[in-house]
Amino acid sequence: MWDNEILIDKLFLSRKSERNFSNKIIDKSLIDILINVGNSAPKAGGVNCISIVPILDKKDILFCYKATFYQESVKNAPLIFLVTTNKEKLNTIYKEPHLSNFLLQNASLAAMNIITACQLYGISTCYIGGLRYNYIEQFLNLSKEEKVIIMLLVGYKSC
Ligand SMILES: Cc1cc2nc3c(=O)[nH]c(=O)nc-3n(C[C@H](O)[C@H](O)[C@H](O)COP(=O)(O)O)c2cc1C
Repeated sequence: MWDNEILIDKLFLSRKSERNFSNKIIDKSLIDILINVGNSAPKAGGVNCISIVPILDKKDILFCYKATFYQESVKNAPLIFLVTTNKEKLNTIYKEPHLSNFLLQNASLAAMNIITACQLYGISTCYIGGLRYNYIEQFLNLSKEEKVIIMLLVGYKSC
C-alpha cells in the first residue's frame, strides 16, 4: 500500500467508536493540541462561536455520565470534551434558518477534527449526542445563548 493509503486507512477507514477505555491519562500538552485542532475546523463566516471544554475531574465526569441518561461508557472515559456554541456571536452575521444550522455544523466539524487527530495519536473516541441539555448547561453555568451540542469521550482503548 502507498503511504497515503495507509494513512487514510488509519485515520478514517478503521476508525470505530470506542466505549471501553483504559485508565491511561492523556498528556496535558496533547489535550491542548486537540483543543487547537478542534478550533481550527472551518467555521461559518469565520466567526469563532464554539468552545471546546475539557472535562478531566472524576466528579465532573460522573456528572457527564448522569447528563447522558447514564450511558456506562461515559463513566470510564479519562477525558471528555464538550463542544458548545454561542448563538449571540454568530447572529451578528446570520439569521434563522441558517443560524441554528450553522451552529450545529460548526460544532460537528470541530468534533470531527478532534476525532481524526485522536486517530493519528492512537487515541479512541466516542461521539455522544444523547444529552440532557438543560442538566449539562446548568453544570457549565452557560448563558441562555450558549448550548452544549456534542460530548466526545476520549481515551486509550482498554486492552
Ligand atoms: C449525532 C451522533 C450521535 C451519537 N450519539 C451517541 C450516543 O449518545 N451514545 C453512543 O454510545 N454513541 C453515539 N454515537 C456514536 C454512534 O453510535 C456510532 O458512530 C455508530 O454506531 C457507528 O459506529 P462507529 O462510530 O464505530 O463507526 C453518536 C454518533 C453520532 C454521529
